[in-house]
Amino acid sequence: MIVAVANLKGGTGKTTTAVYLAHFLSAVVVDADPQGSAVGWVEAAAEVGGILGVEVVHLPDSKLASRLPKVERLVIDCSPRDHRITDAAIEAADLVVIPTGTTSADMDRTWATLDLAKQLGTPAAVLLVKVRVGTRSLAAAAEALAEEHATVLEARIPQREALAVAWGQPLTSDPYGYDLAAQQIKELLHA
Ligand SMILES: Nc1ncnc2c1ncn2[C@@H]1O[C@H](COP(=O)(O)OP(=O)(O)OP(=O)(O)O)[C@@H](O)[C@H]1O
Ligand SMILES: [Mg+2]
Repeated sequence: MIVAVANLKGGTGKTTTAVYLAHFLSAVVVDADPQGSAVGWVEAAAEVGGILGVEVVHLPDSKLASRLPKVERLVIDCSPRDHRITDAAIEAADLVVIPTGTTSADMDRTWATLDLAKQLGTPAAVLLVKVRVGTRSLAAAAEALAEEHATVLEARIPQREALAVAWGQPLTSDPYGYDLAAQQIKELLHA
């Protein structure tokens, strides 16, 4: 199973999502972002004296398909900028998970990412993150995605201060809904 976590917009929650999903999928993270945020997370966690609990390898490479670790489950953390690497990751994946906030600015790049996955022939599922229950932007995003018949994971990841400061720390015991998201991904992929 290869899951690419991608969004053409920066800062949407890709790295956070890749690490948490890998934890709940028992997958290895392939950090395909030249900025190396996922690798840096592991290193920073080790420095504070903890372990992240997820294995991460750095592979910011447009030819990554032939160089992926030979393990059963991989989650690829994509760059928002390096399109050649992101295209390669999406092409190598069985599923693209697109974490997105719910505002119009967030959704604009989400549509573009859905189009990219379609062009490259890989199924995609949107994961709503940084969700604030009861907001107009959440209702509008959910309605627009339904109108477009986009696949949307039922799990919704809330806006949480603990996730805002999660980078560089060992994972906390709260799954924040990523356990459910992982379960739904397994069901989508019959894995
Ligand atoms: N559910 C959440 N609630 C609150 N803050 C969050 C949540 N998810 C992610 N964040 C925060 O949002 C910021 C961006 O997250 P992250 O680094 O995962 O995004 P990214 O898409 O990987 O960014 P980039 O495009 O730079 O690679 C980080 O500060 C992260 O801690
Ligand atoms: Mg990132």
